Amino acid sequence: MNHFDLIDGSLHAEQVALAEIAARIGTPFYCYSTATLVRHYTVFAHALEKAGLDATICFACKANPNVAVIRTLAELGAGADVVSEGELRQALAAGVPPGRIVFSGVGKTRGELEFAVAKGIMQINVESEPELELLSSVAAERGIRMPVSLRVNPDVDAGTHAKITTGKKENKFGIEWTRAHEVYRKARTLPGIEVVGVACHIGSQLTEVAPFREAFLRVRDLVAILRADGFDIRRLDVGGGLGVPYEDETPPHPDEYAAAIRDTLGDLGCRIVLEPGRLLVANAGILVSRVVYVKEGATRTFVIVDAAMNDLMRPALYDAHHAIEPVTAPPPGTEPVPVDVVGPVCETGDTFARQRLLPPVKAGDLLAFRTAGAYGAAMASTYNTRPLVPEVLVKGDRFAVVRARPTYEEMRALESLPDWF
Ligand code: LLP
Repeated sequence: MNHFDLIDGSLHAEQVALAEIAARIGTPFYCYSTATLVRHYTVFAHALEKAGLDATICFACKANPNVAVIRTLAELGAGADVVSEGELRQALAAGVPPGRIVFSGVGKTRGELEFAVAKGIMQINVESEPELELLSSVAAERGIRMPVSLRVNPDVDAGTHAKITTGKKENKFGIEWTRAHEVYRKARTLPGIEVVGVACHIGSQLTEVAPFREAFLRVRDLVAILRADGFDIRRLDVGGGLGVPYEDETPPHPDEYAAAIRDTLGDLGCRIVLEPGRLLVANAGILVSRVVYVKEGATRTFVIVDAAMNDLMRPALYDAHHAIEPVTAPPPGTEPVPVDVVGPVCETGDTFARQRLLPPVKAGDLLAFRTAGAYGAAMASTYNTRPLVPEVLVKGDRFAVVRARPTYEEMRALESLPDWF
């Protein structure tokens, strides 16, 4: 469910015509809908509430670190899951209370740990013994014990794309689940660590609930072992990963997901920390692009648009599907034709869709790429020296540019010629 709909044949974000935004700020741009963000968060929070879970929802900022997006969710009560000092700074700037921020990630540096400890965030999810030792020394230097969950790797196949599977033993993430007890014992001996829980995240864009259950049952077993050994385990961080429909997937409803958590972990008396990213923001965003040329190739028609793989990497990186539709609806009865939708970047990988059925389009037409609110702008780059794509947030009949398109001068200002020239 989202709030991008046709009104009088023209695609709107809530009550704002996308064509109007395009006319004002140019293309390409990302557009997010506040009502959709609110709806997704509310449905998710209600599902957890209905399941009777004591839950803290920490939005995985990596999916969309825009400060206005984080702020929209923070106003609804969301905390934040961050994986870098940059994301932590974004979350704090958006007004997320430090007591609702979790810091995850496999390679946190000393500087990042020092910053997080100084800010007094809720917890750090530690992924290795060397990280545990470094964090202990950082926290002990300040005379405190940092609340920590160890991220365990449950060796469960999430059944998703290989590049976004994280919970198999060959993946770099977490502490091998069979060794976890030993590492917890070590954690107990360190002066700057206060063990509070267990964390686990098995992958992203999961479309089945079974792998979650399997992983949560392993967490449950581990909690029993740890408690028997005297650990006061009071928080369980179940990560993120619940998928969204891009094409014809039918991911579990949040109710089903919440029931899986309740059934496997609900009776342990722990606070449940969740790190949803995609689920909250994917369908709340679209990428709007303009057709530059329509080119007849030897075997196919290419629709060349002004967005490229640097703006929306997912198709190039994961062969991901994003629905594409014209911003101005074609007249009823228009026959769709198969086209390849491509960007201007000098790589064949810069292809958004192959042989996609679209109504005939011409240069100047606007196209919307759906479900682009997660890992869209977040993963954009300036490849081919293209300015980062701007972001717009809509609320009702209002819109605001929440990240401006940099000028070429601003881009070049970061570079300089050494004095030997
Ligand atoms: N927690 C941790 C520790 C994570 O690594 C991730 C995602 C999340 C939470 C949020 O997962 P979500 O609820 O969004 O599935 N760029 C890829 C997705 C990478 C996900 C990385 N980790 C894509 O565009 O599909």
